Order: sequence, then structure tokens, then C-alpha cells
Amino acid sequence: MQEKVLEKFQEVFGGEGEIRTYFAPGRVNMIGEHTDYNGGHVFPCALTIGTYGVVRKRDDNKLRFYSMNFEQLGVIESSLDELKPDPAADWTNYPKGVIWAFGEKGMKITEGMDLLLFGNIPNGSGLSSSASVEVLTGYILKDMYGCDVTNQDIALIGQFSENKFNGVNCGIMDQFAIAMGKKGHAIFLDTATLEYTYAPIELKDAKIVISCSNKKRGLGDSKYNERRAECEKALEEIQQFAGVSSLGELSEEEFDKFQSAIKDEDRVKRAKHAVYENQRTIKAVDALKNNDVELFGKLMNESHVSLRDDYEVTGIELDTLAEEAWKVDGVIGSRMTGAGFGGCSVSIVKNDAVERFIEQVGKAYEEKIGYAADFYVVEIGDGPVRLA
Ligand code: GLA
Repeated sequence: MQEKVLEKFQEVFGGEGEIRTYFAPGRVNMIGEHTDYNGGHVFPCALTIGTYGVVRKRDDNKLRFYSMNFEQLGVIESSLDELKPDPAADWTNYPKGVIWAFGEKGMKITEGMDLLLFGNIPNGSGLSSSASVEVLTGYILKDMYGCDVTNQDIALIGQFSENKFNGVNCGIMDQFAIAMGKKGHAIFLDTATLEYTYAPIELKDAKIVISCSNKKRGLGDSKYNERRAECEKALEEIQQFAGVSSLGELSEEEFDKFQSAIKDEDRVKRAKHAVYENQRTIKAVDALKNNDVELFGKLMNESHVSLRDDYEVTGIELDTLAEEAWKVDGVIGSRMTGAGFGGCSVSIVKNDAVERFIEQVGKAYEEKIGYAADFYVVEIGDGPVRLA
């Protein structure tokens, strides 16, 4: 892979100077969905698939970007003097946003770059290819441009750029999972305090399988912001009766007691999901500590039902993937993962059932939806790294 991207870099940009190669992973969230902007817990892990970046500093202020995933777009040029979001700049708004965000945080970048990317995360899959690009860019600014930041800072700056430059009010989960990833471990993160622990995922006789719906997200981002606003409003309503600063502070019992404060049925459902999903995540991590993978899987299934019925972010594609998975013998748990509205599901599948799973779910999906899903058996990997 490294050779392929280096060769392409020479072909696209040519020239001399020090060239470095980096990698940042994608992520999958095992449980704890739409809790990260509600002060709750999440349980994601970094993957061994992700984004490769080849970069060279420039001595002027030009930014030249090229993606092997969007070759038809060619080289997209910009400069350090025009760090503004621009729809025509397409995917380059992600690295540009991070360079801008470093400036906002007092680390103005004054030398431009030539940057070539190649991602082996399926596009639009919801495995956080955009956060992967953001963390990759932040890591380059740390390692090559000498910015004095920790990986946790890179995650926070990445989220800041996504919120303020790219207009998606995402939480911290994706950037954190990627910047802080650890091989073989998921990260149990309290998004209210950023306290975290690493939990080993030791699935001796099972695998993590990602099923990609191949549904393009489209309206996803605006729906995402809408859900977030609904939760914020529900919290305000609850706050008239309870002294809490986030939905994540509530137990299920407390929520049931205060829910009548919420004056809209949909908002009740949204807030209920946020509260119950957070508690489910805490229980799931406990189950894993006790080696109770079966209970972990059951909680994954319940998470999907809540995202389907209360949070309403699944849709027929993700529902089909999860519901068909539940029917397969040897599936320990299955749920949609990430923002929803398309993207993928994550399943824990016994080793000897993986083939059957792919065949059975794949067939049922294609029959019902009219096009095929893709399946990936994935491994949990480390955070960003310089390769050469
Ligand atoms: C997206 C966002 C995350 C998180 C998930 C839902 O991936 O970027 O911050 O909110 O959706 O859990």
C-alpha cells in the first residue's frame, strides 16, 4: 500500500523534498449511539482500515490536495490565506478545516503542503472516513509541522473543525476513537468528562463483521443536527424540574419520573433513547468485563431497537441488515453503528457462522432492497501513525 501511494504522489505532484507517509484508522462503535452529544458513554474502537496520507511541506502558502478515492476531481488547490469552507472544494474541506482550526487554537500554519490521500474505508459507510482524514491531518501538523498537541487535542481540534468549519454538530466520539485507538481494545469513554479506559475485546471464537448498506446518506447531516436539537430542547424541559446538566446524568428511573416535563411525543422518545442507551452502554461494558459476550450481544440488539423505534435514525436498509442478522444462528449481537440514515451495521458473529451470515443476510438484503450490501470482517487497530 505504501509503495502504491508514494508512487502516485510522485506521479501527481512530482518534485523534490522530504516526503512522509502517515496512516489514521477508521472506527466502528460497538454500542453507545447518539449519546456523545448528550453527555453519555460510548464504546468505539479504531480499525485496521483507514486513510493513508503522503505529504510534503511547501515553502509557499499553497495547499494542493489529491485523493485516490476521487481521482475524477484531480488536484484541488487552495491556500493558507483562503481557509474558508467551499462546497466546490469537496472533500478537501476536511483537511482545510483542521488547518484552519489549528490557527484558531493559536497554532497558525504558515507553510503549505502537497497532500495525497488514499482511504480503504468504504466511502459513505459511516465508518468515519471524514474523522479519519481530520485526525490524519492533525497528526501531520503535530509530527511534521511541530505543533505541540497530544492525540487527545487532535481529536478535540478535529471535532471543532467539523462543527465550525464543516457545519456538522457531531460529538467527540469519532475523532476520539481514531486519535486514541489501541489495537485489540475498545475505548469506554465518558463524553461528559473525557475520562476513558481501554477494554480488551477478546472474541476468541467470534469476529466483528461490518455490513455496509451501500445507501448513500444524503439528508443525514441535517437530520443529525435535528436530533441533536431535539435532545437539547428535551433537556431544557427536564431542567425545569431536575438539576442536571446533560441527559447522560439521568438513570432510567429518573427519566421515567421527569419525562412528563417534555411537551412533545417525539422529543420524549429521543430523550428516552439518549438516557437508556447510555445506561445500556455502561451495562454492556460491565458484561464484557464479566466475559458475558452473550449479554453484550443482547444489549447491542436492544440498542438497535431503540435507534429504530425511539430515535428513528435507522431506515429500511439498516433495519433489514440487523433484523436479518438476528435470524442467523451464531450471531451474538447486531445493530446499526454510527450516525444512521444509511451507513453500516456491526455484528458479532461466531467464527463458524461468518460465511453463512454473509450469504444469508446478503441474499435477504438484496431481495428486499434491490441492491447488494458489502461485508467486511474487521480487526481492531491502533491510532494514527507515521509509516515512513
Ligand atoms: C456520528 C457523529 C458522532 C456520534 C455518532 C452517533 O458518527 O460524528 O459524534 O454522534 O454519529 O453516535
